[in-house]
Amino acid sequence: MSFRSYIRKKYRAFRPILIKGKDNTVRNCSKMRGFTIDITGDNNTLDIADDCLLTNGVIFISGSDNRLVIESDVRIYGPLRIDMRDGATVIIRHGGRMRGVNIVCESGMVEYGAGSGASYNVVIRNTDSHPIFNTETNERINFPKDVVIGKNVWLAQNVMILKGVTIGDNSIIGAGAIVTKDCPPNSVMAGNPAVVVKNNVYWER
Ligand SMILES: CC(C)(COP(=O)(O)OP(=O)(O)OC[C@H]1O[C@@H](n2cnc3c(N)ncnc32)[C@H](O)[C@@H]1OP(=O)(O)O)[C@@H](O)C(=O)NCCC(=O)NCCS
Repeated sequence: MSFRSYIRKKYRAFRPILIKGKDNTVRNCSKMRGFTIDITGDNNTLDIADDCLLTNGVIFISGSDNRLVIESDVRIYGPLRIDMRDGATVIIRHGGRMRGVNIVCESGMVEYGAGSGASYNVVIRNTDSHPIFNTETNERINFPKDVVIGKNVWLAQNVMILKGVTIGDNSIIGAGAIVTKDCPPNSVMAGNPAVVVKNNVYWER
C-alpha cells in the first residue's frame, strides 16, 4: 500500500462521513466498519437507525434533495456501493440483509423491503445512467422509474434488477437473472430476460 493510500485509509477511519455542501442532515449511530459515506450537494438527508451494522461499503450522494433511510436491524456485510443522484430516495426497510450489492438511484426511488436478502454481485438500479433519444423527435425515451423490492424477497447471486420493476413479497429471483418486468408475490423468476418459473412458493433464511 502506498503512503498516500495508507494516510487516506487512516483519515477515513476517523472521518467515515464526509459532507460538502449546505443544509445536509445526517443521523447515524450505526456500527460502521470499513464503511464510508460521501455527500456532495445541498439539502440531502441521511437517516440510519442505531442498531444497524454497516460493513465494507461506500455510499456516494451527489446533487440535491436526496434521501437515504436505513431502518432498524439492517445488516450489510458488503461489499456494498450505493450511488444516489439528484432527488433520489433509497429506503432499506427493517431487517434487510445485503452481501455484495450495488444500488444506483437517480431522481426517483429504490425501496428494499423488510427482511429481504441479497447475495453477492447483485445490482439494483432505477436508472440506465445515460439518456437515450429518439432520432426523429430528439425526445428522451428512457427516464428513471422506481424500483420496489417487496418484503422477504431473496435475490440470488448475480441478479440484476432494472428500472421500473416491482418484486412481490416472498419471491425468489434466481442466480444470474436480469429482471425487466414485475415479479408476482410468492414466485420464482429466473433467466435473461427473467420469466416466472414457479408460483405458490415461499423460502426461509
Ligand atoms: C432460483 C432457485 C433458488 C430455484 O430453485 P428451484 O425452485 O429448485 O428451481 P428448479 O431447479 O426446479 O428450476 C425450475 C425451472 O427454472 C429454471 N431455473 C432455475 N434457476 C434458474 C436460473 N438461475 N436461471 C435460469 N433458469 C433457472 C430451471 O432450469 C427449471 O426450468 P424447467 O422447468 O424448464 O426445467 C435456484 O435455481 C437458484 O438460482 N439458486 C441460486 C441460489 C444462490 O445464488 N444462492 C446464493 C446464496 S444467497
